[in-house]
Amino acid sequence: MTDLKFDRHRRLRGSVNLRAMVRETSIQKEDFIYPIFVVEGENVKNEISSMPGVYQHSIDRLGEELDEVVELGIPSVILFGVPKDKDPVGSGAYHDHAITQEAIRFAKARHPELVVIADTCLCQYTDHGHCGVIEDGVILNDESLDLLARTAVSQAKAGADIIAPSNMMDGFVAAIRYGLDEAGFTNTPIMSYGVKYASAYYGPFREAAHSTPQFGDRKTYQMDPANRMEALREASSDVNEGADFMIVKPALSYLDIIREVRDNFDIPIVAYNVSGEYAMVKAAAQNGWVDEEKIVLETLLSMKRAGADILMSYHAKDAVRWLEGK
Ligand code: PBG
Ligand code: ZN
Repeated sequence: MTDLKFDRHRRLRGSVNLRAMVRETSIQKEDFIYPIFVVEGENVKNEISSMPGVYQHSIDRLGEELDEVVELGIPSVILFGVPKDKDPVGSGAYHDHAITQEAIRFAKARHPELVVIADTCLCQYTDHGHCGVIEDGVILNDESLDLLARTAVSQAKAGADIIAPSNMMDGFVAAIRYGLDEAGFTNTPIMSYGVKYASAYYGPFREAAHSTPQFGDRKTYQMDPANRMEALREASSDVNEGADFMIVKPALSYLDIIREVRDNFDIPIVAYNVSGEYAMVKAAAQNGWVDEEKIVLETLLSMKRAGADILMSYHAKDAVRWLEGK
């Protein structure tokens, strides 16, 4: 037995402090972006049935949510506007006084230091629910770009600190960069959802944002979950077009992609821990089948370990409370 030669990995696991000393990855409150849904109307705080603990807020109830986020020390939120009226060209996305723009104004006035990110897409605003304009059932690329750039500029004018385009039309980063620069917003960063898969994990979000496509699906613009090299091509286009951050979405089933993008690009990587990932954990936790706190922190840690710098997550507030023992 004493002649056996083998490595003693357990030497470094012997105590709490020893384990802490050799820990390679950690999560902290500064890592988080908290997603918030904003609806029209008054005195609305509406829990999303498939996302317990996540609400749609009207602007007059948005303050309480923002205060909570700021008090916890979470540095950033991403706002998803859910308009009442929709039309074929998504006009509600680029009105200067539309729901998202008003929400941005409100958030920046209340908490000037909070980093307010605007989701830039058309699907919540179009009556057909697609992320671009359509003709004969086809989602048009270049025609959609103008509207996305207009949306981004109008969000920047409202005070958005970062523009996060999620539409997956080709050339969207270039079009938005050009639009922002022309309007004088050369310092407004673009956080591109450039690596976005056509995923079943978006189901609960579509309930929350009323953005389900009314015909077909998003497979002609979002990526095929089977593809890895394609993620590098997408990311490469966006980086060349001037993206400042890259989002990989969903996160949990795509940890390999997060690692791939991390290893090939040198801009900050955001993991979007999406609605379906949140819903699954909540459902299991509510049944007492898993330990919610441990599962959530382990899941978020896996995204950091895969290479994400930033975590966009509906668990953000809970995670920070657990991390800080609040
Ligand atoms: C739409 C958009 C989606 C999400 C963010 N922006 C869903 C979709 O493509 O239908 C999903 C986020 C989530 O599931 O949490 N542009
Ligand atoms: Zn969209």
